[in-house]
Amino acid sequence: MRVLVTGASGYIGFAVAKAFRQAGHHVYGLVRSEGAASRLQKEEIDPVVVSDLSHPQVFASVARLSNVLVHCAFESSEEGVKKDAHTIEALIGYAREQQVHKVLIYTSGTWVYGSSPDWPVDESSLLKPIDFLKWRPQHEEMVLKASSTSVSSIVIRPGIVYGQRGGLTALWFDAAEKGPILLCGNGLNHLAMIHIDDLARLYVAAAEKELGSIILNAVDDHRVQAKDCAEAIASYLNVTPKFIPLAAKDAFKHYGPIYQGLELNQWVTSERAKRLLGWQPKQPSFIAGVANYYRAWKAFNA
Ligand SMILES: NC(=O)c1ccc[n+]([C@@H]2O[C@H](COP(=O)([O-])OP(=O)(O)OC[C@H]3O[C@@H](n4cnc5c(N)ncnc54)[C@H](OP(=O)(O)O)[C@@H]3O)[C@@H](O)[C@H]2O)c1
Repeated sequence: MRVLVTGASGYIGFAVAKAFRQAGHHVYGLVRSEGAASRLQKEEIDPVVVSDLSHPQVFASVARLSNVLVHCAFESSEEGVKKDAHTIEALIGYAREQQVHKVLIYTSGTWVYGSSPDWPVDESSLLKPIDFLKWRPQHEEMVLKASSTSVSSIVIRPGIVYGQRGGLTALWFDAAEKGPILLCGNGLNHLAMIHIDDLARLYVAAAEKELGSIILNAVDDHRVQAKDCAEAIASYLNVTPKFIPLAAKDAFKHYGPIYQGLELNQWVTSERAKRLLGWQPKQPSFIAGVANYYRAWKAFNA
């Protein structure tokens, strides 16, 4: 297959692009700099340098060439949500243009569920997105509605991603190097998490299987507590005290609007992906592999 990945320099996009390439596919990765392009080339991924996703005509030709269109880019700015919608529209346009089968994959996240009840939530559960992500279900809907006889629409909802360069867990590693980790809330909340490689394998498995319009959660089976994550890092780095709980006002000051996601108590299941794709997360939990994950993050920063 020929696969186009937006945000291929990003945490998720890079891993996803690599996973498709490792599975034998030809991958085009959209990036914004020559440096990022060269990193892709080393992984045998064809870089396409674009100045900004808000000009989708610049990637029209590779989108038309590709059977799979994977959207992993996101701009963290006031314009980010608008640009995301604009890019989704463009990708849908390219997917529909030709009467050949195309797979469209959108990256959402488990924070759209809000905090879970006392049982696991699956893809059919009610959405209660945190304020910061109120727009996300609408974008998921745009993708799902684009499904047709020639377009398969897939929405992937990853938990907090860990491993390699670290994503949000990099914030904890960085904090622990300077002192105790500042936690949003009391730390008793359970987190939905997924290792970056397990997540990337899920994108490939989903694209390779004829699934039609579908949402897939991407979480591991561990359901760790935030305070246990902080304690695991702090113990490894010998930090005391290990963490400090923050009230909402201070958590907002420290983490910005994502603090609401970090204090969610989530219990999310990926049974659908396991059942339909035979996919299974393989990597150690964030806590079990913390030393390895910390060293990887450190090496990425060096
Ligand atoms: N990380 C997680 O734990 C997690 C969990 C669940 C869901 N998600 C979702 O997954 C998506 C990707 O997250 P991530 O962690 O991979 O983010 P990331 O590391 O910040 O990557 C974002 C990517 O988007 C690119 N980008 C940003 N603005 C762009 C623009 N205007 N034009 C072209 N490219 C642009 C970036 O390019 P540059 O490198 O040039 O900046 C980068 O490649 C987001 O929607 C996020 O909400 C993430």
